[in-house]
This record gives sequence, structure tokens and C-alpha cells, in this order.
Amino acid sequence: MLFGLLVFAGCKPNEPEPPDRPTVSATPYNLVIPPLFPPMDIPADNPLTVEGIELGRYLFWEKKLSADGTQSCGSCHLPEHGFSDPNQFSVGITGAVGTRQSMALVNLGWAYNYFWDGRAPSLEVQVLEPIINPIEMNNTWENALDALRADPLYPPLFEAAYGSPVITQDLAAKAMASFLRTMISANSKFDRERAGTYTFTPLEEAGFNLFLTEGGTNPNTGQPWGGADCFHCHGPAGMQMGDYLMHNNGLDAEFSADPGLAGVTGNPLDSGKFKTTSLRNIELTAPYMHDGRFATLNEVIAHYNTGGQISTTIDPFMEAAGGGLFLDEVDELALIAFLKTLTDTSFINNPAFSDPH
Ligand code: HEC
Ligand code: HEC
Repeated sequence: MLFGLLVFAGCKPNEPEPPDRPTVSATPYNLVIPPLFPPMDIPADNPLTVEGIELGRYLFWEKKLSADGTQSCGSCHLPEHGFSDPNQFSVGITGAVGTRQSMALVNLGWAYNYFWDGRAPSLEVQVLEPIINPIEMNNTWENALDALRADPLYPPLFEAAYGSPVITQDLAAKAMASFLRTMISANSKFDRERAGTYTFTPLEEAGFNLFLTEGGTNPNTGQPWGGADCFHCHGPAGMQMGDYLMHNNGLDAEFSADPGLAGVTGNPLDSGKFKTTSLRNIELTAPYMHDGRFATLNEVIAHYNTGGQISTTIDPFMEAAGGGLFLDEVDELALIAFLKTLTDTSFINNPAFSDPH
């Protein structure tokens, strides 16, 4: 409804209402689903087109979307950092600093909730927020759209994608969401190992086995399982290396600093639950966790090795809670060697994702 009103408000009398989806003359984009990946859900009113994706790429890198023209999406989602930000907290255009770490952008088309607290149900909804967020681009959508309308670049790009030079918030969001859906990483050593064209080193192999093995203590024998127990939440099924579900991975015993999902639902049973992100390109995306509290992968593994902080909402899959994982130094090295096989340099260097301006 809100969209309808905004779209209508952008029209002059007697002008036809702008379209809400790609025009038939736009070129359908041939999305290649990588081997072992599931199909991607694409909204029926936002099919992928070559022109829509290209427009989305221009918008992703467009500093005019921010109130003072200094910041684009790419300012906090840097390719060389796996489309994340090396700062613990990103700095918005006013110098305001948030409380959450920028998230790595990868394979977003397979997720179904966005942001650390999962508050956005689709990419079309997610992309609306950074532009108006006071600690990010601090603009209004009306100002941002006016800036695009005043730039001779954009009316033709909208026309090519949507059959009309009229620039609306709905179409800008659809174009950015389309671009984000094409940001697919599937050419890491791990992918190649799965496809049979790369063989893990013995250390990487040992790390993958730890990743896939239960952790904590076997209740039947009283002996350690010996694994790192990552697969329940970051498993390789579907090749995502993150289930995108909301879990409490034991970072805190109480949640006053950031309630996570409970801040969205108001349900105390959701306290401390955050989105389980993909571990793809994790070598590049430090610092780690929603608040960037860990500077290195060693610190991340040291956290999991303790079993995590016990609380009422700690996830049942944190099976080593209370006792710890019993990983030794060699295990930690192996696990890190495996995690580094998820780095995909062809993804971060892909010219299709780079700044076109
Ligand atoms: C000032 C820095 C900053 C800017 C600018 C910025 N982002 Fe982000 N981005 C973040 C932070 C921080 C988060 C996590 C916020 C949260 O969870 O509350 C995030 C989260 C996201 C996510 C969620 C990823 C996931 O896995 O759930 C997407 C997608 C995203 N941003 C895309 C964009 C787009 C598109 C733009 C431009 C319209 C943009 N960002 C601009 C810092 C920024
Ligand atoms: C119970 C589910 C669960 C298990 C088991 C689990 N994780 Fe996580 N992982 C999460 C969640 C949830 C987050 C995000 C938490 C947050 O930021 O508050 C996360 C975040 C991470 C991050 C940081 C991601 C980023 O973008 O900053 C890394 C790295 C990581 N996990 C690695 C591992 C490894 C390695 C293991 C095994 C030792 C493991 N995880 C086991 C749920 C889990």
C-alpha cells in the first residue's frame, strides 16, 4: 500500500503509472545455479534481467544515495574484505558509529532473512533501510530519488530495465536486490574439492573432519567426541556454510547490550539469537560476530572451544556448553586451514560486482 502511494505520488497527471517489474524488452538473465546448490527463490514480480542487474550495480556503488553524497553501499561492503567492513563498527556519513558489524555479502539469494537480527524478510525490503538509516547513509528516499532523477545517467538505465524512465523507490529497490542475488561465490577450494577438481591438504582435510564431527562429551562413554561441532549450524548441505537461522551461539550470558532477535519479536525466548551467517570468505571478513568482538579466527575458535556462555536461550546445538570442545592447538590450526578453503578470490575480484562509476 505504502509503495503504491509513493509510486503514485511520483507521477504527473495523465502520465501512465510506472511499471512495477521489468519490461518484456529487458533481457532475461541466465542465472547459473552452481553444482550442489539448491534452486534460488526469486520473487515473481522481480525476475532477473541483465539491465536490472546492471542498474542495481550502479545503485550499489552510487554515493548520491547518501545525504551528503559521500557514501555508497560499497563504502561498508568492500570487495577485498568479502564485501564487509574491516572496522568493528561501520561509520555512517555523520560520523555516527553503530553497534553492529557490517555483514559480508555473499550468496544472499539463498537466505530468507537479512540483518543480524533477521528483521528484513527479503532483499527488496533490506535494501530500503541503509539509505534512511541515520547511522548509515542518513538520507530520505525522496532526496535519494531526486538525486538519481537529476543525474542524466539514471533515467535511461531505468528505461532499459523497466521500460520507463520514471524513477521510483520500488524499482530502485528491485534493481539493487537483483544485483545482490547475482553475487554468488562458488569457486573456492572447498567448492572445487566438492566437484572433485581439488584435493584438500592433510591439514585442510583434518579441519573439515573436525568441522563435521560432534563436539563435547559423549554421554554414553563419558569420553570427548573430539570434533569441533560446527556442522549443525554452518553445515555444507546446500553449500551455504550457514543455515541462516537465528541461533544463540553462546557469546553472552545476558543480553542487555544487544537482544538480537528478541529486539524484533519482543519475545524474551529470542534473546541473544542472531543470524547464522555463511562462513564463505570468512578469512577476509574480520572482525567477527554481530558486534565484531573477535578480531581473528583464532579468537572465534577459542570461543567455541569453551563451549560458550550458558544462558536460558543458548542453542541446543551448542553441545559442548558447560564442558568445552577439547580442541588442541593442532586441531585449531586444522580448523582454520579448512575455513580458509572457503575463500573465493574470483568472487571478490569479479568485475561484474565492481564499481562502474
Ligand atoms: C555505514 C555502513 C553501511 C552502509 C553504507 C551500508 N551497509 Fe549494509 N550493512 C551494514 C551493517 C552494519 C549491517 C548489519 C546491520 C544490522 O544487522 O543491524 C549491514 C547489513 C547488510 C545486509 C544484510 C546481509 C545479511 O546477510 O543479512 C545487506 C544485504 C546489506 N547490508 C546491503 C547493503 C546495501 C544494498 C546498501 C546500500 C543501499 C548498504 N548495505 C549500505 C553496514 C552498511
Ligand atoms: C548453534 C549454532 C552454531 C554452531 C554450532 C556454530 N556456530 Fe558459528 N555462528 C552461529 C551464529 C548464530 C553466529 C552469529 C552470532 C552473532 O554474531 O551473534 C555465528 C558466527 C560465526 C562466525 C562469525 C561470522 C561473521 O560473519 O562474523 C564464525 C567465524 C563462526 N560462527 C564459525 C563457527 C565455527 C568454526 C564453528 C564450530 C567450531 C561454529 N561457528 C559453530 C551459530 C553457530
